[in-house]
Amino acid sequence: MLHDAARIHFGSDNYAGVHPEVLAAIADANGGHVPGYGDDPYTARLQDVMRDRFGPDALALPVFNGTGANVVALQAMLPRWGAVVAPATSHINTDENGAPERVGGIKILPVDAPDGRLDPQRLAGRRIDPAEVHSAHPLVASFSNTTELGTVHSPAQVAAIVAAARAEGMRVHCDGSRLANAAVAAGTGLGELAEGVDVLSLGATKNGALGVEAIVVRDPAAVDGVEQLAKINLQLASKRRFFSAQLLALFEGDLWERNARAANDAAARLGEALARIPGCELLAPVEANAVFARMPAGAADRVREAGWRFYDWPPSGEGAGAVRLMCAWDTPAEAVDGFAHAVAAAVEAGARR
Ligand SMILES: Cc1ncc(COP(=O)(O)O)c(C=O)c1O
Repeated sequence: MLHDAARIHFGSDNYAGVHPEVLAAIADANGGHVPGYGDDPYTARLQDVMRDRFGPDALALPVFNGTGANVVALQAMLPRWGAVVAPATSHINTDENGAPERVGGIKILPVDAPDGRLDPQRLAGRRIDPAEVHSAHPLVASFSNTTELGTVHSPAQVAAIVAAARAEGMRVHCDGSRLANAAVAAGTGLGELAEGVDVLSLGATKNGALGVEAIVVRDPAAVDGVEQLAKINLQLASKRRFFSAQLLALFEGDLWERNARAANDAAARLGEALARIPGCELLAPVEANAVFARMPAGAADRVREAGWRFYDWPPSGEGAGAVRLMCAWDTPAEAVDGFAHAVAAAVEAGARR
């Protein structure tokens, strides 16, 4: 092994490894030959599971990553002249290196979202004449749950987005890279928290998978050519059984929920611990598995010198001591306590200078 297997960091929930039940499911799917590209019993079973979770018409396509899920989903939902309204802070707008635009040819219309949530009022009045040729047509509203700022859209907030989008003739996409964390935080099932959403990018990698996300189409009328677009966008795995097996391990039973709860609980503990350290402040209430906090000048660097990894927030570092701390499915209480202890020591050392 090339790393210290006991070391836990707070950089991202994808710093974590693979849940043993997912690894076991991959091993279990191994051996023998089955057809490639999704014509296999695991991908068939996945359809049953996703129909249970997301309704009788649901269709699930395993893809390699979240950026790919978003690009394929949005491409399948939009004509060439379409556009997607999304929070300025959204992953599709800020963190995919322009993939929706460059790869998908999708125009994003960003709207202000100080807490990361999509404000339904930002959708009002967006409908334009279908014959309009000068402007891109806003035909999809996209929101993330949880958001990139760690906040959670409640079922009522999702319902309000859906209603506002419908009133303007828009379809709804949810970037559910962390839908499991949002659902545990909201105390709902996965499907319940995406009521009225037409297409989801459903996260699994951050929730304990090796590497897979699913495009979940709830309303088949909302997409055109989604399977073909997955191939065109390099998101069709030939040995798809192993991707479907990971999703089955997480979503057939309650592993998704156990993992998300563990991550959210760790973040809650971390938030409480940091809030007790003089000079540290939480920048937002901890709603799911992210903690945004500010430390006194120099403290974050001293904590890093003590061996911990995490990111400044915003990543450009202009937030003057503001950091983002992510908890994963395997973040134990001891790591949280050890980190908080390191922060307290760093703050004290700063005060003595
Ligand atoms: C909100 C959101 N969407 C999507 C993704 C998935 O991105 P990736 O392409 O790295 O799997 C992430 C990962 O950080 C994310 O935070």
